[in-house]
Amino acid sequence: MRELIRAGLHTDVALLEDVNGQVFAHSGKMLRPLISLLVAKALGEPNDDSLHYAAASELLHNATLMHDDVADESSERRGAPTVSAMLGPSAAVLVGDFWLAKAVETVFVTERFSRVVKFFSDTLSDLAEGEMYQLEKASSADTTEEDYFRIIQCKTASLFVAAAVSGACSVDAPEELQEAAKAYATALGTAFQIKDDILDYAGSGELGKPVGMDLKEQKITLPLIGALSTLEDESPVRDKLLHIHEHPEYCGQLHSFVIERGGIEYAAARLQEYIDKAVDALRPVPDSPARDALVEIARFNAFRQV
Ligand code: IPE
Ligand code: IPE
Ligand code: MG
Ligand code: MG
Repeated sequence: MRELIRAGLHTDVALLEDVNGQVFAHSGKMLRPLISLLVAKALGEPNDDSLHYAAASELLHNATLMHDDVADESSERRGAPTVSAMLGPSAAVLVGDFWLAKAVETVFVTERFSRVVKFFSDTLSDLAEGEMYQLEKASSADTTEEDYFRIIQCKTASLFVAAAVSGACSVDAPEELQEAAKAYATALGTAFQIKDDILDYAGSGELGKPVGMDLKEQKITLPLIGALSTLEDESPVRDKLLHIHEHPEYCGQLHSFVIERGGIEYAAARLQEYIDKAVDALRPVPDSPARDALVEIARFNAFRQV
């Protein structure tokens, strides 16, 4: 699977080849291809299509991170400078586009292309809609818990779904088991982003990316929503977020507000609900080491620090 990614990215443009090599050298957890392959293994015998869908999900993930780091003006990813920080935002958008095109090509050469391409194209529009809705909400600071779940469903869970369902499809799993894979990935992807948002408040240097970014970007995530729910009148705190750029001291104040009002505990409780939902969704899947690993991945979200 790694070989498919590496070979697919080859280009004669030296600068692009060089950046691709650097991004590839700093791979992340590779969670999406792992899930895709484990689902294929839990539901059948993984084949060449399974490898291609796993590779496509990681290519697409990296493309969206390059674009996300432009949108979030982020300087560090996986313990290294972002493409945007190294070469500027225009180059980062173009390199992201290249990885995106390679994801499409990787799906294109498979036997089950006509069925699977729809999963990935749905995900692509969800990702763009999720990020745009998040931007819209950041400028009004009126994000509700419902808005938050809509955003993370689109920007994060959707790609987990494409990875899992394409894995299921690669082994021609019956409809009922494809649905189980989809329900698992939806809950897991949601749990994954809740944990990412907790780590933005409570993470350490181990994370390999800056913490405290969400407040700076005026993003209202679940820890803040939980803390706000303890107030009778939320508007003074929401107003502070709207003016955080003129008042950098608000950052520390809002961070303390979230911690003191139990925002992390609130988000951790919702996180556990989604972990349980993910594990529960696997009920129709027959027992196997691959199924056990999928359960472990869901539970890993409760304590992961990276
Ligand atoms: C980061 O995803 C983006 C989110 C959806 C939170 P990962 O934490 O899976 O990133 P890498 O690939 O392991 O760096
Ligand atoms: C997830 O959101 C990004 C995507 C799904 C593209 P974040 O903006 O929280 O991700 P990080 O924290 O930068 O990895
Ligand atoms: Mg980001
Ligand atoms: Mg984040």
